[in-house]
Amino acid sequence: MNTVRSFVRLAAKTSPLARQTVTRRTIHSSPAVLSDALFVHRDTPKNNAKIPFEFSPENKKKVEEIFKKYPPQYKKGAIMPLLDLGQRQHGFTSLSVMNEVARLTEVPPMRVYEVATFYTMYNREPVGKYFLQVCTTTPCQLGGCGSTKILNTLTEELNIKPGQTTKDGLFTLVEVECAGACVNAPVMAINDDYYEDLTPETTKKLVENLQSGKPVTPGPQSGRHTCEFAPGVYTTLNEEPYGPGFGVRSDL
Ligand code: FES
Repeated sequence: MNTVRSFVRLAAKTSPLARQTVTRRTIHSSPAVLSDALFVHRDTPKNNAKIPFEFSPENKKKVEEIFKKYPPQYKKGAIMPLLDLGQRQHGFTSLSVMNEVARLTEVPPMRVYEVATFYTMYNREPVGKYFLQVCTTTPCQLGGCGSTKILNTLTEELNIKPGQTTKDGLFTLVEVECAGACVNAPVMAINDDYYEDLTPETTKKLVENLQSGKPVTPGPQSGRHTCEFAPGVYTTLNEEPYGPGFGVRSDL
C-alpha cells in the first residue's frame, strides 16, 4: 500500500495530469440509509421491556414440544419457532417476546434480536388484524400481471401507504419481495394465506369482504384451481407426450 502511495506522490510531482487526478480525488460515501426503522428499537408505550410477556398455558405446551426437537445443548435452535409462536400470541414480536425467547433458549437477548431483525416475517411493531403483503418483484410486476396496479388499488381503497396501518386497525399494508408463487402472479399474502392471480377488481372485492366480515377464499382468484393453464392459454405442453427413447440415437 505504501509503495502505491509513494508511486502516486512521485507521479503527482512529475506529471501535471497525475497531479490533477490526485488533487481531484474525492471521498465517496454510501447514501444515507432510510430503513433504520427496520433495525432500531425505540421504546414506545406498546413496546418496551417493562411490558410483561409470558406464553399462555396452551402455548407453553407447544414450547415444550418445540424444545423436544432440539438436543438440550442446542436450545437456541428453537429461537425461530418460539419467536413465531410469541408473535402469534402477542400480535407482534415485541421486545418482551424477544426477551422471553432469549430466557427460554438460554442465550443473550442480543442473539434473539439478531434473528428477529434479520427475518422479515417477524413484525416488530403492531400490525393490523389483516396483514397484507403484496409481492412487487419482477414476475408479479411484468406484463399483464401488474402488481403495481394491485398495490395502487390497495392504497386507494385503504387510504394508506405501504408500511402503514388503517386507523381502524384492520389492515397493515407492506410490499414484499418474491413470495415464491410467481406462477400465480400477482400475489398477495393476507396473514398466513396467499391470494393469487389478482386483478384490481378481485383485490377490491377481497378488501370489501374483509371489511364487512365476509369470508374470503385463499388461492387463485381467477377461477384457476391451482397453477394449471389459465383458461384459453395453451402454449406449452399441449401435444401428446413423446414416447420413451425420444431424441436418443437409434444405434444406442
Ligand atoms: S415475484 Fe411475486 S411471487 Fe414471485
